[in-house]
Amino acid sequence: MSAKRVTGAKRRIAERVTRVSDVGFAKFLNLFHSLEGGISLSVGEPDFPTPWHICEAAIDAMKKGITTYTPTAGFPELREAIARHLEKLYGIKYNPETEIVVTVGSSQAMDLAFRTIIDPGDEVIMPDPYYVCYPSCIVLAHGVPVTVPTRPENDFKLEPDQLEARITPKTKVLLFGYPANPTGTELTREEYADIARVAEKHDLLVISDEIYSRLTYGVKHTCFPTMPGMKERTILLDGVSKAYAMTGWRLGYAAGPAEIMAAISKVHQHTMLSPASMAQMAALEALKSGEDDVQRMLAEYSRRREVIVRGLNDIGLKCHEPKGAFYAFPSVKVTGMTSDEFTENLLKEEKVIVMPGSLFGRLGEGHVRCCYATSLADIEEALRRMACFVERHRARS
Ligand SMILES: Cc1ncc(COP(=O)(O)O)c(C=O)c1O
Repeated sequence: MSAKRVTGAKRRIAERVTRVSDVGFAKFLNLFHSLEGGISLSVGEPDFPTPWHICEAAIDAMKKGITTYTPTAGFPELREAIARHLEKLYGIKYNPETEIVVTVGSSQAMDLAFRTIIDPGDEVIMPDPYYVCYPSCIVLAHGVPVTVPTRPENDFKLEPDQLEARITPKTKVLLFGYPANPTGTELTREEYADIARVAEKHDLLVISDEIYSRLTYGVKHTCFPTMPGMKERTILLDGVSKAYAMTGWRLGYAAGPAEIMAAISKVHQHTMLSPASMAQMAALEALKSGEDDVQRMLAEYSRRREVIVRGLNDIGLKCHEPKGAFYAFPSVKVTGMTSDEFTENLLKEEKVIVMPGSLFGRLGEGHVRCCYATSLADIEEALRRMACFVERHRARS
């Protein structure tokens, strides 16, 4: 290749990749790591170690030589366990042979789903604020992300009339994830029914990201494909990362109509071959025997949630009650700062790191995400420091 042909990033990097922004959080993280005595409410993962019996299942698999490629869609016994798990929790039946594909985290399931169903220019519609990776994954699959505004006064819930107003002839997919990252919002079955009617009316495919489905507080999660008529048009994404404290194992799955799952499996086969064999054996153990662990961690998140939501509201950072996941999403308007300014100043002055809401879409501006998957002692100390910070800046504003 001649030197002339490779000049400039523009020539080397695909145009759609240049359109995907960096998460833009690195500068805050670098600053955080340079400080001593900092408290992080930023990283969205459990602070618990993976329960040991789950680790042992992986060790045992390695001892038995289960270290090779596996069937593309995952070990049959794991797919059966996933099917049993979904049926037990929600009464929904998936055929483990044809309707479930095991993936490298639910992240890969999402990537596969988009790559499988999107043609160039297809629009994927989703509520704003959104999980940071959604728009990027859509763009990388040659799709067009379209956002639907939500309102803090309605707990950032996706509203059917707002959704319908943004549907065009190019809209192919509706994407949402409840409980939601960054807002902790969960929908009721009635609210899901309204969304289902819109999906049906406009013949949309639905991707329902249910990675936080096990982490709800005082409400029962509705698995979207259990809504009448939705199973045949929905790809359900889930995994073991959040509920079983297994983010590093990279194990998730997609479940959906056989025709779509066969196509997903084909893309999976050509791009990943299979998920890691020992991680699959660990996930099998988690699904079979990890329920007590889920309940133990959930009880702890629940205690922390109460403390952080009350604490944030008490210091003047208005925060709706998150019904799921492990995020609080308070407004910082009382300080007169943008979410970026709040994050940077809080970090510099009080050594507490949160995530600016602007990362999660236009409607995230004016808020910050506080992850409470950290110790109660850290949460209490972070709240104390944030109270001083808000007091100082409220007085000035
Ligand atoms: C909403 C949402 N979906 C998906 C993921 C990815 O999870 P996994 O570890 O299963 O790839 C995350 C991780 O933070 C998330 O917040």
